Parts: sequence; C-alpha cells; structure tokens
Amino acid sequence: MARSALLNVMVQAAMKAGRSLARDFGEVQNLQVSLKGPGDYVSQADRKAEEIILGELGRARPTYSVLAEESGARKGTDGMHRWIVDPLDGTTNFLHGIPLFAVSIALERQGEIVAGVIYNPAMDELFTAERGNGAFLNDRRMRVAGRRALTDCVIGTGVPHLGRGEHGKYLVELRNVMGEVSGIRRMGAAALDLAYVAAGRLDGFWEERLSPWDMAAGIVMIREAGGFVSDREGGSKMFDKNNVIAGNERIHKDLSAALKRPA
Ligand code: IPD
Ligand code: CA
Ligand code: CA
Ligand code: CA
Repeated sequence: MARSALLNVMVQAAMKAGRSLARDFGEVQNLQVSLKGPGDYVSQADRKAEEIILGELGRARPTYSVLAEESGARKGTDGMHRWIVDPLDGTTNFLHGIPLFAVSIALERQGEIVAGVIYNPAMDELFTAERGNGAFLNDRRMRVAGRRALTDCVIGTGVPHLGRGEHGKYLVELRNVMGEVSGIRRMGAAALDLAYVAAGRLDGFWEERLSPWDMAAGIVMIREAGGFVSDREGGSKMFDKNNVIAGNERIHKDLSAALKRPA
C-alpha cells in the first residue's frame, strides 16, 4: 500500500491528534465541557485535537482552505484545495467513556473529495482512502460487505439528539427499516459509521442532519471500497442536504426504498 505524500500528512495529523484524544480520554472527568446547544457538547479535548490537526496540515500546505467543526471556515490563497476536519467525531461517546470516537480528515480538490483518513485511537484503527488508490484499514484493503438481501443486513443510523427536531419523521423511518433488516446499530460517531460501511462491518448506513466534516472522509472511503454513497435523493449533494445513505449498490437501493415508504 503506497500512500501519497499528502495522505501521509493527513495520517500524521490524525495520529498526533488521536494521541492527544487518548490522553484526554484517560482523564475525561477533568475536562472542561460546554454546550453549543441542547445535547450538543464540546470539550477542551475537541479544541486541542483541532489545533493539532490544523497546525500539522497548515505547516504542510499553508495555502489550502479549511473547514473545521470547532473553528469554522478559513479561505486559503489556493483556490483548489480544502481540508475538511472533524477533530473528535463522537464527542458524546468520548465524554461518557465509550471508546467509539474518531478523528476525521478529508481533502477536497475542486469540489471533489480525493482523500480521507478516519482514526479511532482507542482501538488503534486507521482507515484511509485516496481516490483511485483503494481504501485500507491499517494495512489491509477494505471492501464493502456483499450481502444482497436487507433481511441479512446490519444497518447503522444516527438518532437525532436533543434539540435536533424531526423526531416523528425519524421514528417512521426507523420503524420501516427495522421491519426489513436483520439488525440496527446506533454507535454515535457518524464518521466511524461510514468507515465501518467501507470495512464491511455495517452493510449500510443512513443519517439526517449531518455536517460536511461528519461525512467527507467516509464518502471517499466507501467509494474506494466499492460502495455507493449519496444524499437521500440519490444525488451527490450530501453537504448541501446534510444527509447521507450508504451501502453496496443493491443495499443502497433497497435501503433508499425502505426509507421512502409511508408510515
Ligand atoms: C456527531 C456524531 C453523531 C451524529 C451527530 C454528529 P460530533 O458528531 O457523528 O453520531 O449523530 O449528528 O453531530 O458532534 O460528535 O462530532
Ligand atoms: Ca460536535
Ligand atoms: Ca462529527
Ligand atoms: Ca466533532
């Protein structure tokens, strides 16, 4: 597995931030925590990890634009490239001592995501992908799962947290999908969910109200692992519509249909 210089920069940044998160995870009760809105937490650990990542990426490519969850958007002089960063995906898990959280870094070139890294430091699992070069979990090539019937599938989703509204609509969708699949998982870290689809651990995934930093790295990973990923209408506007649906070609199609069924 040959990584490009840029992917190496992303991996180094993700692992350095991951080491910082692992240290903070060990003494999570001492961290300063604040609320951005109902059910929406941010901690010192999120901010520190973001500072580390932006420091590393900025040193390597000072002219690129940045979109990062905690510090927002910054326009670089390079009009072509943008880093999309979630320093800690799964903050709620992290603050509850649940080791399902990850760093997520993606690189966009002229509006196309060309590389992604998702790193779970608690399990030391590094998911990487580059367009045209495949997707890997540590050093092993990833492929999406090959199951062809929804009834055999384990499907991931995200449940809207307090303050996220649309609970009624979500419950209808959940009931429809529940009636057609083998099992449902809600793990609490969307970037990791998408990486798990790429790795063939989850057969499919859907979630509403996601931000670009939750999805960007996972999108290129699923495509490079042979999967399908789109917005809820089947298009590529995941960042504008703030939603995503993923799986192999067949499961993507059948899950999309299940989600559209009336109550
Ligand atoms: C959240 C997680 C969660 C998803 C939320 C996200 P954060 O990201 O990915 O699984 O359901 O919509 O906001 O805030 O922990 O980075
Ligand atoms: Ca957050
Ligand atoms: Ca996130
Ligand atoms: Ca986050």
